[in-house]
Parts: sequence; structure tokens; C-alpha cells
Amino acid sequence: MVRAALLPTVGAPLELTEIELPEPGPGRVRVKLAAAGVCHSDLSLANGVLRAKTPVVLGHEGAGTVVSVGEGVDSVRPGDPVVLNWAPACGSCHLCTIGEPWLCENQYAASVETYAALPDGTGLYPGLGVAAFAEETIVNENAIIPLPEGVPLTSAALLGCAVLTGYGAIHNAARVRAGESVVVFGLGGVGLAVLQAARIAGASPIIAVDVSPEKEELARLHGATEFLLADEQTPKAVRRLTGGNGADHAFECVGRSTTIRAAWSSTRKGGRVTVVGIGGKDDLVSFSALEVFHFARTLTACVYGNSDPVKDIPVLAEHVRAGRLDLDALITDRITLDEIPAAFERMAAGRGGRSLVVF
Ligand code: APR
Ligand code: ZN
Repeated sequence: MVRAALLPTVGAPLELTEIELPEPGPGRVRVKLAAAGVCHSDLSLANGVLRAKTPVVLGHEGAGTVVSVGEGVDSVRPGDPVVLNWAPACGSCHLCTIGEPWLCENQYAASVETYAALPDGTGLYPGLGVAAFAEETIVNENAIIPLPEGVPLTSAALLGCAVLTGYGAIHNAARVRAGESVVVFGLGGVGLAVLQAARIAGASPIIAVDVSPEKEELARLHGATEFLLADEQTPKAVRRLTGGNGADHAFECVGRSTTIRAAWSSTRKGGRVTVVGIGGKDDLVSFSALEVFHFARTLTACVYGNSDPVKDIPVLAEHVRAGRLDLDALITDRITLDEIPAAFERMAAGRGGRSLVVF
């Protein structure tokens, strides 16, 4: 039996409870969590903005140590430090075979099968296939990324979502080059990671935008050279800070039509908007046909940083070892499993950076 934060049904409060994990079957790996970050997607799954099968153990940004492995697993052994991958690629669907594993057709396959049970036998689903809000979990081997040396196991949890996503948005999706201007909307764990990645890319200026004034200090710590409090005038203010042109790149890290629209209007002619936030299905964005032509901008989304974690995690680890990427700066609250509801509240109120459950 291990302790877990369980979401019984959408909209219900989280319950701290004991769950039973089976021995790992063929191709499966049991992991003891060292830490798990609280991401906005967990809140969106808990309140129904995103859909999940319930009862579910959420948490998809985790790192830990391999406890045991099932038959046929040969990439890791008990005792190995690992990061968990919530978008594992099957390697054989069309999108995997054309080299876009972050869009794998089967990346959510594990989240629709039960993986554990309550003592009364009720089956439990793993949030995004990972279920990191528990002392231990069981995942498929393709959801395991070996953690390179030199990265502390606790802060490594952030590599599993916010940092892989934020770094990949800058380096894989938008391919920001030194000297290009960047504006980032939304400064949670994901947006702050985008800022750090923009700093690594040598972007300038790096403009950070949020509705919460208390994000300014955090934003500057993560590489922002300018901070704007979001309002209707934001696109105008961004143009002013970029020689009247608008930014070369905008990154939307909120997941709303209004911020996608503001990001669009903040870029220069021919600029690029990368949508990182996950919005709702009824939240519509509108553009006039004329402006689509006139501004010749590119609007694209980026999933899990358009990354191949097996290749990108070692790159991130090298940035951490060299002191260019500061994982600990992202963590503003170290919490226990029963404090996740308070972390959701801070997140909804736009307070702090990442909350990290430390086991
Ligand atoms: N303009 C600018 N910033 C905004 C706005 C707005 N209109 N509305 C909210 N924000 C800010 C919040 O104040 C907060 O700082 O966006 C930030 C969002 O941060 P978090 O809630 O911590 O979310 P995070 O975990 O970083 O995820 C961001 O990426 O992975 C997706 O589902 C996730 O869509 C979410 C997004
Ligand atoms: Zn996430």
C-alpha cells in the first residue's frame, strides 16, 4: 500500500488515501517518487476543463527511483534515477514514423487503463498515464527517461513537464535565435521555463506579461528584461519595447483565447506565435481574413515542447550542470501530498512559481 492524492470524480476535493499497486507486468516499471510538480493541467483535469477518467491519481511531472521492473524491461534497473514522461511515443504510428513523436497518436493510451486499486478493489486511472501524486507509481517503459548524472533527483521532476515544454517551445518549436525579441504571456511554471530558455537562446528583449503584479520579481529572476501587467494595451506596449515593430516571437502560456489574441497582436509582421497553454474547447479565437494576410504571421501550437525527451533531457541536464538552467528557482513552494489543494488555490490566484510535492 502507498499513499496517494486521489480525485474521486471531476470537481470533488482531493482525498489522501492508501492505494494498492500490483507488481509491474511485462514492459512496466515501478517507481518510487522523489518529487512531483503541480502543473495547471492537473488543476484543469481536476475541475473538468480537461477530461480524465476517474477515480484518478493526478500528477504528471515527476522524478524518482526505479523500484522494480517487469518482464522484458531492459532500459532501466532497480535503483536507477528517472524522470517520468507524460507523452510517451509508441514509435510506430504515422506521426512517430515521420519524426514527430510529441504528437504520437497513442500518447494517452496508458491513461485510459486502470493501473492500481483501492483496498475495496475499485480500479484507479493514472493521470496522463503517470500518477505522480503518490509515493509510488507504475508506468510503461516508454514513459521512463533515465536521469543523467549531476541533476538533483528532486528538482529533476520539473524536467518532466514545465521545463521540457518551456525549453522545447523556444528551441524546438520557435527556434529562437540570439538577438530576436520574445514576449511571454503567463508566468506559471511553464512561462517561467520559457523565459529561462529564451535567456539561454540569447533573445533580446525578453518581455514577460502576466495579470498578477507579484510575478514581476520572479519573471526578472528567470530572465525577463521587461515586465508588463496584462491589459488591453499590452500589444501596444510590446510594440513600443520592440522599436515599434512588435516581437519576433510570442509564447502563450495561459491557455485562453484572449491571451492567444494578445500574443498574435503583439508580434511583428511575419512574426511567430507559439501556443503552449491548453485552452478549452468552447473558447474561440477570431482573426479577420484581411489581417491574416496582411500581417503574414505564423500561429502554431507546441505539444510537450515538440521534444523527444530521450534526446532532450540530456541537453537540459547539461544546461543544469553548466548553471544556465536553474530548476530550483522555479520552485517557490515545497509541499506534502495533502497540501496539493492549497497549491491549486495559489495557482488559480496567480501566486508563486511551481509548487513541488517532496516525498
Ligand atoms: N494574461 C496574462 N497572464 C495571465 C492571464 C492573462 N489574461 N490570465 C492568467 N495569467 C497568468 C496567471 O497569473 C499565471 O501566472 O498565467 C499564469 C499561468 O500559470 P499556472 O497557472 O501556474 O500554469 P502553468 O502550470 O504554468 O501552465 C500554463 O500550460 O501546460 C499548460 O495546462 C497548462 O494551460 C496551462 C499552461
Ligand atoms: Zn504539465
